[in-house]
This record gives sequence, structure tokens and C-alpha cells, in this order.
Amino acid sequence: MGYKVAVVGATGNVGREMLQILAERNFPVSQAVALASERSIGSEISFGDEDLRVQDLAKFDFAGTDIVLSSAGAKISAQFAPKAAAAGAVVIDNTSHFRMDPDVPLVVPEVNPEAIAGYKKKGIIANPNCSTIQMVVALKPLHDLARIRRVVVSTYQSVSGAGKEAMDELFTQTRAIYVNDPIEKRQFTKQIAFNVIPHIDVFMDDGTTKEEWKMMVETKKILGPSIKVTATCVRVPVFIGHAEAVNVEFENPISADEARAVLRKAKGVSLIDHRADEGYVTPVESAGDDLVFISRLREDITVENGLNLWVVADNLRKGAALNAVQIAERLVKDHLSK
Ligand SMILES: NC(=O)c1ccc[n+]([C@@H]2O[C@H](COP(=O)([O-])OP(=O)(O)OC[C@H]3O[C@@H](n4cnc5c(N)ncnc54)[C@H](OP(=O)(O)O)[C@@H]3O)[C@@H](O)[C@H]2O)c1
Repeated sequence: MGYKVAVVGATGNVGREMLQILAERNFPVSQAVALASERSIGSEISFGDEDLRVQDLAKFDFAGTDIVLSSAGAKISAQFAPKAAAAGAVVIDNTSHFRMDPDVPLVVPEVNPEAIAGYKKKGIIANPNCSTIQMVVALKPLHDLARIRRVVVSTYQSVSGAGKEAMDELFTQTRAIYVNDPIEKRQFTKQIAFNVIPHIDVFMDDGTTKEEWKMMVETKKILGPSIKVTATCVRVPVFIGHAEAVNVEFENPISADEARAVLRKAKGVSLIDHRADEGYVTPVESAGDDLVFISRLREDITVENGLNLWVVADNLRKGAALNAVQIAERLVKDHLSK
């Protein structure tokens, strides 16, 4: 027995990864369905040994579908997710649309798996933003130990976080620079090749970007409303893997050694922290891996109880597709029975 699983946005960066991870982890799938826009109708996408023919989301009938893994953009989710839920499916949504809805749980299985039970209100579970996911996986064991008061984070986010066309733009601009062609900008506001851009998603009234706001509010919803977060989110010319420099201030004393001890035992975390050349993890090394890597852990002596750490993960896997599949695994184990 298995579940009929539909992947919305199956031709995209996250959707392809979702199908690959479902197959890799032997998720109990009785039938897999690949959905995208009408542009992709008839194209084929791999699912394990099978090739799935892509169908049009707009014409798809969700009756009989058990689980929908969705990543086709916030506007698309706003339209189809309630319809899919009304037809009886549980939707695990990767977009930002439902994340702050009080009737939709926002889940990272290593951090707040108990929240999944809240899916019954709307039939929807939200997957957090990629940068939030890897940060809260790293912070949860430290919060349990010494209660986090404030987080100051700067991100170094890869272009794959902005979709497949953004990856093409980094490639094309890089090539253009070498052959002296003009640089064209479509996905990013400034040249991304050999540059960094402190602007992800739209600006808000107070000057924060929406990506930065997401890290603040999502961390509160997942880890605890009293935690203050201030973020600066930056796009960097890396294809896959987000990095974060995180400064954490705690209510209670915590030493670097105590932090290391809890992180070594934490779920989903790999502590690689040697004070030597190559004794830390970079985004390139995280690509294709499922873990959140923590390096450069050290005490911050400028505040009473402070730590600095460097957090790296594959944004398409733990930051998106893997987290969604892990939610689906918990959902079928604890809530759906077949
Ligand atoms: N990349 C990440 O790290 C990450 C992390 C967390 C969340 N997310 C979120 O996941 C979503 C997708 O990201 P991505 O990186 O996979 O983007 P992407 O590579 O650009 O893929 C977009 C997908 O959405 C589909 N789509 C677009 N318009 C559609 C429509 N009108 N009807 C049906 N399908 C449509 C596309 O289908 P066609 O090929 O047919 O156009 C494609 O499958 C975004 O909301 C993003 O914010 C991404």
C-alpha cells in the first residue's frame, strides 16, 4: 500500500529534487504525478526508474490524491492549495503564501514535529524559507540548552534559491564576462556574476527586505515568539548551498564546548569545526547532502552569553525538498494510515 503523491512545480529546481528524494528515501508512493504549467505539458521528469509525463496543474483533478508537495510560487499555491485540500489531499507547501497563517503549521521536523498535527484545520502544512530552515535546525539544540534571546544573522544565499532561470543567469553572465559580451539582467536587480547583492525579495516599508522579514517571523513561529532576529540577506554567485554567519545571544551562560557537545548529538546536524585549513564546510561541499553543517563555533566575548557560528546547507534539499519529504514521512507515520 502507498500514497498517491502529486508534485506541483515538478519541472522546477525544488520539484525535481522532491521527486528524486521521494525515490531515494523509498517513500511509500502508489502513484506519483508531476504537475507544472501548460508550458511543460508532455515533457518527462524522472522519478526513480520511471519517467513521469508532466500534466497541467490548471486542469488536474485532485480527487483521490493523498499528498501534494507544492513548489510553483506563492500565487499558484494561493489558488490551487485550498482546492486540493478540499478534494481531500494534504498539501505540503514550499512557498511563502501560507507560512504565517495561524491555522497552518510551519514545520521543520527536527525542531517542531508536534506542530504537524495542526494540518487538520486547513489541510495545509507550510515548509519554511530555506534560510530559516537551516538556521533553526542549528539553533534548536542551543535554545533548549541556554534559551536564545537575540540572533543577528547575515546570509550568503546561492542563486538556485531563486529558481532555475536564476541559475542560468549566473552561468550566462559568467560566460559573457569571459568572452566580453554584454551582461544581461533578468532575474536579479544587479549583475550577479563576480558580485554580491544585498537584496532578496521586495523591500518593505522599514527598509527590511521580505526575505529578511521571513527569517524573523518564521523563526519566532517555529522556535518561540520571544526570540528576536535581525537579518541581512545577500545573494552570492554560488549555484547551490546557502551559508549563514549567525551571532546568538542567550539568556543563560553557555560555553563553546557545551554548545559543541549538544550539537554533536543533535538530529540533522553535522559539526565540522577544526581550527585548521579546510576545517569548516562551504556551500559547494554541502550540495547534495542532507545535513546542516556547523563550523567556526566560538564564543562572542562582546556580549554576556554569546556565540558565533557558521551554518551551511543545501538549500534545494534541507532548505526545501528534503524538509517537505521529511514532513510527509512524519505525516504518514503519525496521522495518515493506509
Ligand atoms: N529554490 C529554493 O531554494 C526554494 C526554497 C524554498 C522554497 N522555494 C519556493 O519554491 C517555489 C519554486 O521554486 P523553484 O526554485 O523550484 O523555482 P523554479 O525552478 O523556477 O520552478 C518553478 C516551477 O513552478 C512551475 N510553475 C510556474 N508557473 C506555473 C503555473 N502557472 N502553473 C503551474 N506551475 C507553474 C514551473 O513550471 P514550468 O516549468 O512549466 O514553468 C516550475 O515547475 C518558489 O515559490 C520558491 O520560493 C524555493
